[in-house]
Amino acid sequence: MQKKPVGYKELGLVNSRELFEKAVTGGYAIPAYNFNNLEQLQAIVMACVETKSPVILQVSKGARNYANETLLRHLARGAVEYAEELGSPVPIVLHLDHGDTFELCKDCIDSGFSSVMIDGSHLDYDENVALTRKVVEYAHTHDVTVEGELGVLAGIEDEVSAETHTYTQPEEVEDFVSKTGVDSLAISIGTSHGAFKFKPGEDPKIRLDILEEIEQRIPGFPIVLHGSSSVPQDLVRTINEHGGKLKDAIGIGEDQLREAARSAVCKINIDSDGRLAMTAAVRKVLDEHPEEFDPRKYLGPARDALKVLYMHKIRNVLGSDGKA
Ligand code: G3H
Ligand code: 13P
Ligand code: ZN
Repeated sequence: MQKKPVGYKELGLVNSRELFEKAVTGGYAIPAYNFNNLEQLQAIVMACVETKSPVILQVSKGARNYANETLLRHLARGAVEYAEELGSPVPIVLHLDHGDTFELCKDCIDSGFSSVMIDGSHLDYDENVALTRKVVEYAHTHDVTVEGELGVLAGIEDEVSAETHTYTQPEEVEDFVSKTGVDSLAISIGTSHGAFKFKPGEDPKIRLDILEEIEQRIPGFPIVLHGSSSVPQDLVRTINEHGGKLKDAIGIGEDQLREAARSAVCKINIDSDGRLAMTAAVRKVLDEHPEEFDPRKYLGPARDALKVLYMHKIRNVLGSDGKA
């Protein structure tokens, strides 16, 4: 079936340009929360409306495959109306997380996304530049903003994986930004995807010195941090107390993320912490009430726990409360 193109403005969404300008000058970061289902979206919208925070709704390729792209688009449109209904509309961006091809980015732009990431970080430098440039050229004709990436994060992503970090080389950033025309740049400074970011005994520090050097080379340019879950230990404990087996799960300290958010870092990606919060709540209910089989009885508490987590991040880590 031939699909009719949908522009994000029709859905009431915004691109990230103005949000990033304000975040960079204001010394805070916009939350970029991943979602795959209704409960995650409800928690994000409730948390952002209650704290009056702008938000980036992130959808990965895996999320699109899991939840169906058409349904996700309608959920995002619903999020805009839901926020209004809750009494305090907040700016909402619909963003493709870790786009790996031009075709995927184009498809998202044509179906209502207001922002896309093209992740060419695993390619040679020149190939990364060429691919990113191509996406930017198409995106900008639709007033869609683009995030590129330089440097490789350790950990596993859906389509892109790397065993170890390759930190972003500060001497490459000016050239990359000017050749590609990207609107924001994801960098690798020691964060990584998932719940196992450091080994026991390792110093769980990110390289804020590299961030500082990058900022000096491209002052005021919006920087993005992926892999920024903190892996709250109370959640890990709850999961393990109720039948889970998460061994040595370690994340990024919230104090370090707060420091990064005060600088040119204006988008912080958090997915794993939400997964942990939901899993902890679901495990607890099912363990304590084995007679339950109504999904609302365990997904409801999971949604409530997510909302609490997201509000905490906004107020105490990102500093985006009151900035909508
Ligand atoms: O960086 C990856 C995000 O956490 C999305 O994960 O590809 O499993 O949906 P996913
Ligand atoms: P975490 O796995 O640390 O939550 O990172 C998520 C992310 O970077 C999404 O792109
Ligand atoms: Zn990521």
